[in-house]
Amino acid sequence: MSQTHAAHPLVSRRAKPLTGTWKVPGDKSISHRSLILGGMTVGETTIEGLLEGEDVIATADAMRALGAKVTRDGDGVWRVHGCGVGGLAEPETVIDCGNSGTGVRLLMGAAAGQRITTVFTGDASLRRRPMARVSIPLGQMGVRFEGREGGRLPMAVIGPEVLMPIEYTLPVASAQVKSAILLAGLAAPGETSVIEPHPTRDHTETMLRHFGAEVRVEALPDGERRITVVGQPELSPRPVIVPADPSSAAFPAVAALITEGSDITLTGVGTNPLRFGLFETLVEMGADISFLNRRVEAGEPVADLRIKAGPLRAIDVPAGRAPSMIDEYPVLAMAAAQAEGTTVMRGLGELRVKESDRFAATLDGLLACGVRAEADGDDLIVHGAGNGVAGGAIIPVDLDHRIAMAFLVLGCVAETPIGVDDAAAIRTSFPNFLDLMNGAGAEIAPPR
Ligand code: S3P
Repeated sequence: MSQTHAAHPLVSRRAKPLTGTWKVPGDKSISHRSLILGGMTVGETTIEGLLEGEDVIATADAMRALGAKVTRDGDGVWRVHGCGVGGLAEPETVIDCGNSGTGVRLLMGAAAGQRITTVFTGDASLRRRPMARVSIPLGQMGVRFEGREGGRLPMAVIGPEVLMPIEYTLPVASAQVKSAILLAGLAAPGETSVIEPHPTRDHTETMLRHFGAEVRVEALPDGERRITVVGQPELSPRPVIVPADPSSAAFPAVAALITEGSDITLTGVGTNPLRFGLFETLVEMGADISFLNRRVEAGEPVADLRIKAGPLRAIDVPAGRAPSMIDEYPVLAMAAAQAEGTTVMRGLGELRVKESDRFAATLDGLLACGVRAEADGDDLIVHGAGNGVAGGAIIPVDLDHRIAMAFLVLGCVAETPIGVDDAAAIRTSFPNFLDLMNGAGAEIAPPR
């Protein structure tokens, strides 16, 4: 997202029942990976269903700057002509990843294995996010980093003469860090392994295999997993079909669940179990969700979701579920505000280092909307009354798309409308959010 833009406030008023059949945009995680890995194959990869949001467009531009040929053929249909695993070229200027932590961290991994210097930056949100979680393991592989105090962007990544394979145990459950190491490992001789204490989204592993790399996953005795990539493969292009993003589907899904009389269908949504914690949790809360027409597309499971409004019960969400729904807690908290009873969401420390401090933004926003909620360490506790919320607040978005969308969803059941001070960040992940929501029955518009 551009660093300076006119604020784009929006207000969400009580919605009509949400209805219709809709397709949310392509999965953001898979879209980034298809451009980056497509750019590391030898030949041409076609991608269907690519998310054309600002985050992914920034990654497409970055891959062009690194020497890949990236072209758009039509709506969501893109082609990437790759340079091979070790063939990326030194960019002439700084790469701006905008708002995207996934973009920058995965690109750092891809750039790390090249004998080039790449300088990365991003918007004000991305420039305050921690990059040491990537530079520490890649540093062990021999890569040099020069960045700002505290491991912040802008940061230069200087690829070594010879990259060393490593085995690295993740200190935090992070698919971005895992992926950065595996992408760097592609350029290293021998085998690079990542041990993850809790399984995180495995789209990188799936797509690496799809393009012909050898990836092994071993279950270790205490629930950990070791993921190993064999270095220096030749990656062959294969078509990629990007499923609809479950993290985007979460917003109309929760809006439909809490808005009386709603009945919507969201088609072709990715149902990868490592991404599906929210839907699992909503079903435990008593949500009426049917998973129809289950199928596998380009290695990823998808289904059509039919969602009907109904009462929700509060529950206790265990910390172990966090990696499979880390981006969904803000909108789950909105569902919890409308559920009956006290919902406890445990182990949300990582929410503090997302596009904004989502833990604080969610809690403060709920309180401002008249919802009883509190923090207990890294646990977020929401007391729902099951009969709407007061609303009447304007939520500061702080460049965070998911905070903006979560509170606009809550506005669907608020007595007094809920506003967001700047909805521009929604363009990073869900460019047609407003059209889809309003087409279904929501009343979201600029302030009168
Ligand atoms: C992502 C991983 C998650 C998630 C982000 C996308 C990915 O971040 O929050 O939106 O595509 O790998 P972490 O890996 O840092 O938890």
